[in-house]
Amino acid sequence: MAENQQKLIHTFGALAELGHEVSQKNNFQEMIRTSLHLLLGSLGIMRGGVARYSRFGHELNMLAVRGLGDDFPLSLSLCYEDERQFLINGLVPIEVSQAKVLPFFQIYDRSFDAKKVELLVPLVIRDELVGVILLGEKANGEPYSSYDRDIICAMARHIGVGIGQRNLMAELERRAEENRRLYDDLRMTYKDTVKAFATAIDCKDKYTEGHSVRVGKYSEIIAAELGWSEEQIEGVAVAGYLHDVGKLTVDRNIINSSVRINAKESAELNKHPAIGYEILLPIAHPYTDVPLAAKYHHERLDGRGYPDELEDREIPYIAKIVCLADSFDAMTTDRPYKRRRPANEVVEDLQRNSGKQFAPELVTAFCSAMLKEITQETKQKKFRRLLGREYLEAEGIVPLLKNALNGMNGTSSLTLVSLDQI
Ligand SMILES: [Fe+2]
Ligand SMILES: [Fe+2]
Repeated sequence: MAENQQKLIHTFGALAELGHEVSQKNNFQEMIRTSLHLLLGSLGIMRGGVARYSRFGHELNMLAVRGLGDDFPLSLSLCYEDERQFLINGLVPIEVSQAKVLPFFQIYDRSFDAKKVELLVPLVIRDELVGVILLGEKANGEPYSSYDRDIICAMARHIGVGIGQRNLMAELERRAEENRRLYDDLRMTYKDTVKAFATAIDCKDKYTEGHSVRVGKYSEIIAAELGWSEEQIEGVAVAGYLHDVGKLTVDRNIINSSVRINAKESAELNKHPAIGYEILLPIAHPYTDVPLAAKYHHERLDGRGYPDELEDREIPYIAKIVCLADSFDAMTTDRPYKRRRPANEVVEDLQRNSGKQFAPELVTAFCSAMLKEITQETKQKKFRRLLGREYLEAEGIVPLLKNALNGMNGTSSLTLVSLDQI
């Protein structure tokens, strides 16, 4: 009686430890190894192994072995009939002598014999075969009692649940990865579509070819200089690409007029921000401010812009970025009625209009990014690619940019740039 009591206490202790192992261990391999040792140790079993079943490969892969030796196969192939029989059997130990009718025994019979494997325990959890436990003879040479079998069953359930959980996690990770890939594909498709749209918008205007794409790129430069996240930078670039989408509905002759347009035509052209907003609003953009950037990219901080004559704080931030990028491109590209302005003049214009038309901290960010590129503090050649190398080599551009940066520090959130620093 006392011996039985001791056995029971020991067994419950082992079971409790096993439960703890299964729920606590992050290291799956170690959990299985410890579980096998607990099982073998609590019943005094000489050798054994735990194998995980791969439904795709139809094979049992050994996760942990003890005393089976190096020559025991690490992977056992099963056929459909083996799996079916294990499922019918459920989580009950099978004598190896009875299991010899199974097809896979015809291949592995000798290995099982050599290692004196006596019991097989299919790990069937929620009607699914997740693995098999192999057990050798007991150290005391006695056959397995029904009590032993009950304990094996209880412990095998714990181990099976552990493997089942791991399978579930792996499946979840696989699906999450698949979703991530799908999302990336979708993002790429969205970006390509946006670029195609930008090209379509620019096609309509023969004098400002590539305008939308450049505004997208300048907007991207500003956001990057502000230290925005990759996603935010992508959002602002999209806003730049699409800011003039409303021009698709404006008469081509007005857009392509080689002379200054009259007031009526100008009114017609000035509808494009509001139209752009209407076009973009129903689309589910990953970045919510895209329609607002289209609507307000011609507003000015001093309230003299259009369509709503908004003032500083009323203007969405993304629209302020696109506005600066848009104006910069207008000044630095040839138009039918005027040539592009020299870089010096453009920087002076930005400085002069900082706080009136443009947000000062954005002008600072833009000038700072340009200065870094000219002085090769950065290896990037974004401005050079968009403007041409010679354009940025204008005489006196560096001191002018430094001056502009220092002159605007009062309203800038960016670091002061000292004239001695560069
Ligand atoms: Fe515009
Ligand atoms: Fe524009």
